[in-house]
Amino acid sequence: MLATVAVTITLAARSVLAASASAPYFGKVFHGHRTSADSSSEGNIYPIKDCSAFIQDTPDSWSCHNTSVIRDECCFENYGVLLQSQFWDYNTTLLSIAVNGTTKDIVQAEAQSQIDLLYNDIKRTFTIHGLWNDLCDGSYRSNCEPSWEVDDARDNLTHLIGTEFNEPQLLAVMKRYWINTLKSNVEDQASVALWEHEYNKHGTCMNTLNPECFDSGYREHEQAVNFYKKVVEIWSQLDTFQFLAAVGIFPTVARQYKLSDVQNALSKAHGGEVYVGCLNGAIDEVWYYHNLQGNVLSGTYRAIDSLTNSTCGEKVWYIPK
Ligand SMILES: *[C@@H]1O[C@H](CO)[C@@H](O)[C@H](O)[C@H]1NC(C)=O
Ligand SMILES: *[C@@H]1O[C@H](CO)[C@@H](O)[C@H](O)[C@H]1NC(C)=O
Ligand SMILES: *[C@@H]1O[C@H](CO)[C@@H](O)[C@H](O)[C@H]1NC(C)=O
Ligand SMILES: *[C@@H]1O[C@H](CO)[C@@H](O)[C@H](O)[C@H]1NC(C)=O
Ligand SMILES: *[C@@H]1O[C@H](CO)[C@@H](O)[C@H](O)[C@H]1NC(C)=O
Repeated sequence: MLATVAVTITLAARSVLAASASAPYFGKVFHGHRTSADSSSEGNIYPIKDCSAFIQDTPDSWSCHNTSVIRDECCFENYGVLLQSQFWDYNTTLLSIAVNGTTKDIVQAEAQSQIDLLYNDIKRTFTIHGLWNDLCDGSYRSNCEPSWEVDDARDNLTHLIGTEFNEPQLLAVMKRYWINTLKSNVEDQASVALWEHEYNKHGTCMNTLNPECFDSGYREHEQAVNFYKKVVEIWSQLDTFQFLAAVGIFPTVARQYKLSDVQNALSKAHGGEVYVGCLNGAIDEVWYYHNLQGNVLSGTYRAIDSLTNSTCGEKVWYIPK
């Protein structure tokens, strides 16, 4: 009986999810997928100097593909591997139930979590961790430019983004989908602490965010606000939940999945192998790798294979949030 109820709810939930339309966002489709392996900032405006002459005149202008030293502060990222990282902040109690619960516990938890999935889109969303630029060998540097850093206590990030730079929609998306989790290793649990940390650690290492690269009239912290906008944009094209749902992989306490099935679904959607991270055998993070042509804000991102091996076993849990 319980099992039948759970299956019915699960099927109902999935047909509703499949029917739900995507809402437009940033001139693109929010939570829609990207159909090709390439992405550009078409539709979003970034106040950045034009790189088209550089791209035209430079035969190997893709990051990590140059055959000679390229020194163009604004149109070429020296640390040319761009990773968009996402959290899957699963419910650890549900993992315990999945692993150690009785059949009755599992069926009940499954039914409840399928209902929760329907009513709260956070439970169907891999949230934003950040956008990182690694060196071409996969190593990275951090906190590269102290003078660019933001400090919420001094700069009031919500005011900076929402009011000073007049990006209320960006701020709203960040508040909802760029949330701090225990996994982020940022002591302060407020989401602004994660935003501050991510930009200071990684954004300040992006040479194409140099103030000189902005159109005339650069304002202090303009690169921080535009970094946030770009992170949200790239993330909004990489809807991991939908990529997995498309092949019938949904969060559940009732079974494990093969890691290779998860990886195949993600690499098919992305165009390159995707890093899948696990915590205690359950998926908790994914990273999408890219190379870049042009400026990190206005340039074109091209999917590449992950440079990091998965931390999961052959079978993984995909536990509801
Ligand atoms: C590519 O350009 C970067 C940045 O100038 C430089 O560090 C690197 O050595 C170049 N790669 C090659 C193969 O010359
Ligand atoms: C995690 O799942 C348990 C069991 O269903 C539930 O009681 C608890 O409220 C959930 N925790 C969160 C943070 O949603
Ligand atoms: C399942 O139970 C075992 C034995 O009590 C325990 O060591 C393990 O941590 C539990 N697993 C989870 C995910 O709670
Ligand atoms: C930061 O800015 C927001 C939005 O303008 C405002 O509501 C808040 O009070 C400010 N916080 C501080 C500490 O000034
Ligand atoms: C990933 O795993 C493969 C095969 O086990 C190994 O050859 C490679 O060195 C590993 N890569 C990294 C970055 O650890």
